[in-house]
Amino acid sequence: MSTQFAPLKNDTFLRALMRQPTDYTPLWLMRQAGRYLPEYRATRAQAGSFMGLATNPDYATEVTLQPLERYKLDAAILFSDILTVPDAMGLGLSFAEGEGPRFAHPLRDEKAVMALRAPDLSSLQYVFDAVTQIRKTLDGRVPLIGFSGSPWTLACYMVEGRGSDDFRTVKSMLYDRPDLMHHILKTNAAAVAAYLNAQIEAGAQAVMIFDTWGGALADGVYQEFSLAYMREVIAQLKREHDGVRIPCIVFTKGGGLWLEEIADSGADAVGLDWTVNLAQARAKVGHKVALQGNLDPNVLFAKPDQIHAQVERVLQSYGRPEAGQGHVFNLGHGISQFTPPESVTALVDAVHSISRRMRA
Ligand code: CP3
Repeated sequence: MSTQFAPLKNDTFLRALMRQPTDYTPLWLMRQAGRYLPEYRATRAQAGSFMGLATNPDYATEVTLQPLERYKLDAAILFSDILTVPDAMGLGLSFAEGEGPRFAHPLRDEKAVMALRAPDLSSLQYVFDAVTQIRKTLDGRVPLIGFSGSPWTLACYMVEGRGSDDFRTVKSMLYDRPDLMHHILKTNAAAVAAYLNAQIEAGAQAVMIFDTWGGALADGVYQEFSLAYMREVIAQLKREHDGVRIPCIVFTKGGGLWLEEIADSGADAVGLDWTVNLAQARAKVGHKVALQGNLDPNVLFAKPDQIHAQVERVLQSYGRPEAGQGHVFNLGHGISQFTPPESVTALVDAVHSISRRMRA
């Protein structure tokens, strides 16, 4: 089944991901729809909760478009969360006000782990409905990004039952019972691949895998317990839909030391946090993948002239774009809820104007 959507008016983001020449460096921001925007907080209050927003396609569409109404961003990202997948696996997700996510039924013993199954995708239909409605409402303005957590990052929340400073519980299982951990990761990889493919069929024009906690793993352990499963997901992804290439971005926060291996995962682009030197990253893997990143989100707490200077540093560090290499500007991690909205105006203007000047 194929749905007809309006043709794209701004394909700069997709071109950069495919390492084709662009007139300027495209940008979007991780967590661009969120609490730093007063209009988001208002819609969230109306919906009653985060899940109230995410499970209602009208609300999800509204908040996805909010940052695009304010700023000239070059991509939209589906408003949802990575934890919808374990929720659909029966773990019982909730977001208490002022706290992070919680699972009512974390995976703590062999019985719970062995009972885990990839979810019936019909229980995530609200996500696919949101994708289609957002894509229609965008009317070709900019491309829509779909996303998922990595198998390992999902496992962190599924075993811990919540966020963690040290990942003691999930790492205990990893070291004590690697067989159980591999069972979770294998199940998650199948779930994530099916989930992303369903988003692509619903209208997502690029997909991103968030491996927020891969960087918490030891060298060697990362490759076996996170990267291998992301590679398994990528190998199963639909890379084309309705005759159009669907690029895939992988982002391991703290993964800079494994850059070459991540660039060999089969992804089209690699997301980088702010600890990575873009010039060195480009020299190592720029002929193979596009790079996405990597401004420190805390730069947005500085004054507009300092934001401009730091954007210039990032763009100069990447250097002059050339055909066969691609850069998508982003933050090195999600935007803070305390960010002044005016800072984002300064950021977007700086990225577009400096990167145009660099091509002149
Ligand atoms: O980027 C976007 O604008 C799209 C939406 C999006 C959300 N979460 C919405 C959200 C995306 C891409 C995510 C991904 C996500 N969720 C990740 C990976 C990326 C990253 O930031 O590392 C992770 C680890 C999660 C899990 C999660 N969801 C946590 C830990 C929290 C609570 C902490 C926090 O920052 O609030 C959430 C809640 C959440 N997901 C919010 C939003 C806008 C805030 C909820 C609220 O409105 O109260």
